[in-house]
Amino acid sequence: MDSYILDWLHLVVRWIHVITGIAWIGASFFFNWLDSQLTPPENPEPKVEGELWMIHSGGFYQLEKTMISPSEIPRVLHWFKWEAYSTWISGIFLLGIVYYTGSGVYLIDSDIADLSYGVAVSISLGTILVAWLVYDFLWVSSLGEKGWFPVIISFLLLFVIIWWFHQWFGSRAAYIHVGAVMGTLMVGNVWRRIIPSQTKLVEAVKAGKTPEASLGIKAKQRSLHNNYMTLPVVFIMISSHFPNTFAHHYNWIILIAIILIGATVRHFFNLKNKGHLNVWILPVAMAAIFVLIFATKPETSISNSTETVKFGTEHIPYALVRTILDQRCLSCHSSSPTDDVFKIAPKGIMFDSDKRVQALASLIKMQAITTIAMPLGNKTGMTHEERVILGKWIDEGASIE
Ligand code: HEC
Repeated sequence: MDSYILDWLHLVVRWIHVITGIAWIGASFFFNWLDSQLTPPENPEPKVEGELWMIHSGGFYQLEKTMISPSEIPRVLHWFKWEAYSTWISGIFLLGIVYYTGSGVYLIDSDIADLSYGVAVSISLGTILVAWLVYDFLWVSSLGEKGWFPVIISFLLLFVIIWWFHQWFGSRAAYIHVGAVMGTLMVGNVWRRIIPSQTKLVEAVKAGKTPEASLGIKAKQRSLHNNYMTLPVVFIMISSHFPNTFAHHYNWIILIAIILIGATVRHFFNLKNKGHLNVWILPVAMAAIFVLIFATKPETSISNSTETVKFGTEHIPYALVRTILDQRCLSCHSSSPTDDVFKIAPKGIMFDSDKRVQALASLIKMQAITTIAMPLGNKTGMTHEERVILGKWIDEGASIE
């Protein structure tokens, strides 16, 4: 497909994905909050479990949570499911647009695994599907009732999946794929477990029967899983802006740490909503973030690293830097890219002019030296030595004289 059209399609689908995602997670946060804020009704009425008054956009809203009786299933009953479904559908489209087009430039990184296009896409879709089947089986089987056991197994499986994607894909793609797996589990929970239990609940009420208690419990369990996945998934969706995470040498361990921190923060709010204010949890999560920041701080000064010793105090001439950029970056980052996929300089970053190169030095360092996010998928085959030279030149003050 024409890359111009594809770019617009990308824009529209990403836009939809973000909007539906906000609607879904927003509704989920809102209902969590509602449940925590219900108070016993001022004028006790039979069946009313709790009530809540709100003021918003110029009006008062009164809300009651009821144990409804059969004759009263209202004509219009709002279900919250299309937010989830449309987030997933747009998400899968987006995955296809970004990672399966352009012969998989964002997906395949030959430095990591020299996959053919077909194999790469099969690993991508296959892992997402298998992850759901295994997770769902774990929780419907009798193992799912064994207390902490299925929880620990689920976390371990997630860590294995994180590691697994990093064995095959470019690091940025690996991160997003973990998000795609978690998002799929969340939507699978809504589609295959939560909505069906609610349907049975409504049917039971209509038939004048007492609904099975287990229906509600199972739906609640999956809903709780989704709740813990929200913050990690939102991080993963914005992770491609942060090469310090995905393009780090320990990228998969960093992702595990961030997922655990995100789930911990969610745990704090869940407890708080239940009225238990566990004040130590948030500071611990903050401390964990700081530990992560310092523990994964890369060697920023290339000049002092052992690898540059062989260059000694030798000054790096700009001409050498120019050659490296011309060979490794200009095919994409120029006013007339020659790359087979990128026909317009990505993000408007161009290295044709020496002055621009100098101005962009710190950005270049972040993308190609501190982390190895660029060249994308190392498509142009940049060597480690070239990174060291480029880094040393930047550390020396990025002179273009
Ligand atoms: C195969 C094409 C390709 C090559 C070669 C390439 N890049 Fe990029 N570069 C991209 C793409 C695509 C993006 C946008 C990534 C995104 O969407 O976040 C990008 C983004 C960037 C950015 C902006 C990052 C940001 O988020 O602000 C910098 C800086 C950069 N590249 C530097 C380099 C350097 C330095 C080289 C050479 C060592 C290089 N690139 C080689 C494709 C390439």
